[in-house]
Amino acid sequence: MDLQLIDKVAFVTGASKGIGRAVASNLASEGCDVIITARGQEELERTAAEIAADTGRRVFGLAGDMSKDDDVMRCVATANELLGDIDILVTCAGSSPGGLLEELTEDQWMQSLNLKFMGYVRTVRAVIPQMRKRGSGAIVLVVGNDGLKPSYWEMTAGAANAADINFASALAEQYGRYGVRVNTVNPGPVNTDRWDTLEKAFARDMGTDQATARKRANASIPLGRITEPDEVAALVTFLASDISASVHGAHIPIDGAQRKSLMDRDTP
Ligand SMILES: NC(=O)c1ccc[n+]([C@@H]2O[C@H](COP(=O)([O-])OP(=O)(O)OC[C@H]3O[C@@H](n4cnc5c(N)ncnc54)[C@H](OP(=O)(O)O)[C@@H]3O)[C@@H](O)[C@H]2O)c1
Repeated sequence: MDLQLIDKVAFVTGASKGIGRAVASNLASEGCDVIITARGQEELERTAAEIAADTGRRVFGLAGDMSKDDDVMRCVATANELLGDIDILVTCAGSSPGGLLEELTEDQWMQSLNLKFMGYVRTVRAVIPQMRKRGSGAIVLVVGNDGLKPSYWEMTAGAANAADINFASALAEQYGRYGVRVNTVNPGPVNTDRWDTLEKAFARDMGTDQATARKRANASIPLGRITEPDEVAALVTFLASDISASVHGAHIPIDGAQRKSLMDRDTP
């Protein structure tokens, strides 16, 4: 299938590893030139060089913290200088601490909302004017199925994700008329470093070990396994492509039909 992505310019936040890296790599394999962002310069540059070598496309790593508006603006401006207007925006820079209400601090809540929600708002706000002017663009927010179902132990993620989903629906209403499509992809557990960290924290909070935490994760998913980053990247790439031209304002789970809360203390 020809995804018609040759020579498109993509901007992927949170992409030195994990889902963002898989997305950047997929888009470059399909012919996009790609900007990736993350805070850690070394891993970012290594990832950009590896994807460029694997795909033959131009791939630049721009260090920046997506919880800071100045960094977002600087990265977008530099991206425009390097590659021109951005055709595709994918936001992946997010992390939210797990925990229950009486254990979570004010700082943890604000951290989660400032990156996972406001980081996505900031990035879209910085990029979308150029898409509106050109009359085309595809935006995919990588959010999380905790925004669509009860989250229990993952409260801060659930709240930020629900806000992202609502935000994306509003964007779809506002920008569809300008040819800018906006969709969200909502993974359940995905096999990345972030998931490893969450599993360890869950095991600690539940007084169990990580192998048991993984068993419970798998048991909460009808398909019986967590998702791989490449599977999420394939869905994002489809939504970034004009072959999905009528998919707009959609919130697509990719979670093996995990419909219940993973870490409910009362679940055996
Ligand atoms: N893995 C899952 O199970 C899962 C499930 C549902 C949703 N998600 C969502 O999917 C997205 C990607 O998750 P992942 O599992 O791929 O995470 P990951 O493996 O931890 O990778 C996160 C990436 O984002 C970057 N990053 C983190 N904070 C950042 C910041 N403030 N500014 C810029 N970049 C930042 C990291 O690099 P630096 O640390 O160097 O900045 C890294 O490149 C997140 O929004 C996450 O909430 C993940």
